[in-house]
Amino acid sequence: MKRSSVKELLHSDKFLQEVHVKGWVRTFRSNRFIALNDGSTINNIQCVVDFENTEEELLKRITTSAAVSITGTLTESQGKGQSVEITVTKLEILGDSNPDEYPIQPKKHSLEFLRENAHLRIRTNTFSAVMRVRSALSFGVHKYFQENGFNYVNTPIITGSDAEGAGEMFHVSNFDTNKAPLNEAGEIDYTQDFFGKETNLTVSGQLEAETYAMALGKVYTFGPTFRAENSNTTRHLAEFWMIEPEVAFNDLDANMDLSEDFIKSVLGYVLENCKDDLAFLDNRLTQEEKTKPQAERSEMGLLEKLNFVANNNFKRVSYTEAFDILRNSKPNKKKKFQFPITEWGVDLQSEHERYLVEKHFKCPVILFDYPAKIKAFYMRLNDDGKTVRAMDVLFPGIGEMVGGSQREERLDVLKAKMADLNIDEEELWWYLDTRKFGTAVHSGFGLGFERLVLFTTGMSNIRDVIPFPRTPQNAEF
Ligand code: 4AD
Ligand code: MG
Repeated sequence: MKRSSVKELLHSDKFLQEVHVKGWVRTFRSNRFIALNDGSTINNIQCVVDFENTEEELLKRITTSAAVSITGTLTESQGKGQSVEITVTKLEILGDSNPDEYPIQPKKHSLEFLRENAHLRIRTNTFSAVMRVRSALSFGVHKYFQENGFNYVNTPIITGSDAEGAGEMFHVSNFDTNKAPLNEAGEIDYTQDFFGKETNLTVSGQLEAETYAMALGKVYTFGPTFRAENSNTTRHLAEFWMIEPEVAFNDLDANMDLSEDFIKSVLGYVLENCKDDLAFLDNRLTQEEKTKPQAERSEMGLLEKLNFVANNNFKRVSYTEAFDILRNSKPNKKKKFQFPITEWGVDLQSEHERYLVEKHFKCPVILFDYPAKIKAFYMRLNDDGKTVRAMDVLFPGIGEMVGGSQREERLDVLKAKMADLNIDEEELWWYLDTRKFGTAVHSGFGLGFERLVLFTTGMSNIRDVIPFPRTPQNAEF
């Protein structure tokens, strides 16, 4: 008999018909009521066992997390809270589970405890909701770009260049670490390594994506990126997924338009397609907020916040305007910022970004025209000679969601910038070629996918929105 999903059955009105379903027992009450979940939806289907006519041995094996196969009749439920249930006619245990050893009990566990059981936490309502929303978000990402004429480009994961110039890279080598050959200068001789040169895991697919934008026009990447920065925060992962569109002939304004339209569209997609999971997460966040002191509580619920962002314009502000706002702000004057805002040119910290977004503008903000000194080498220099056409999209509760820029398309300016920063022209010869052969204005950005998932699900730690987080001192599973 054809197997249905729990989701299909919960929406079905084929009453009194025989149905077949497989899943895991969430709870088993009164030797009678199984709450069955198969991952297709946050909701369980109630399966009612005729315990008087079922062997006791079998009843004992119906325990939380056991895998079962059920055949029965779909009926209108008598109990409140569900519209349909299954009157079980045949029950088979597919996989037993020992309830005394199973770590995920039907009670509230701390997120820390669940992180230590990342292989099982997906069996909870919270994590299954988060990961279904994550899946829908990634589909929404592809949908947006595919419907808007972008080509999906798979840029390399192993590279020889440092796109961000920050030096926060994981080395890739197949040397035996204890016996790496040395050159005459006594340094590790990478010419003998697998690739014949020093290589690392990519921090961004941008430089390669730029070369593709110079032929395909509109491209995007969506893949894993790696950063060996020792940031133990709720916003940083050592392995995260980044979405990087790159568009020929787009200037910074068009780039800002694209980022805003893209984010709104993707949020709109999940609002439309993840109603049950978002309703659950909305409620979860409301409960969570109640445990916080009044002053720290968010003013908006999750759904309200998502709808607000999807339907309102982002505020666009130059770095210089933002700098003035921050310098004159109460927390700065009262020395409440850990990093005081004193001189023009300082890098903004997450406390400043969040002040702008959460306290001052109360909406997502796009900051642009940053000081050249604090941004990467490839950003286009403005005529003032001291700012670059950079943009960061800042989000409430998150800080930086997107970093992007109009790229420096002028060969001489780019070369001068690289010389300034001691970036070897020979290493990036292929990147410079794009500026020699038909160079053009172009722009792009990178959106940290987990930060988007964090915002969308209302979770508060980035480790809880990726299946198996990689952070300093942690690569279990
Ligand atoms: O601002 P970033 O470093 O920009 C780039 O890498 C550019 N090459 C992107 C481009 O223009 N194509 O990173 C982009 C985004 C950040 O805004 C943030 O959302 C996310 O990537 N991000 C991280 N997310 C999780 N963990 C980390 N360690 C992250 N570092 C950056
Ligand atoms: Mg950035």
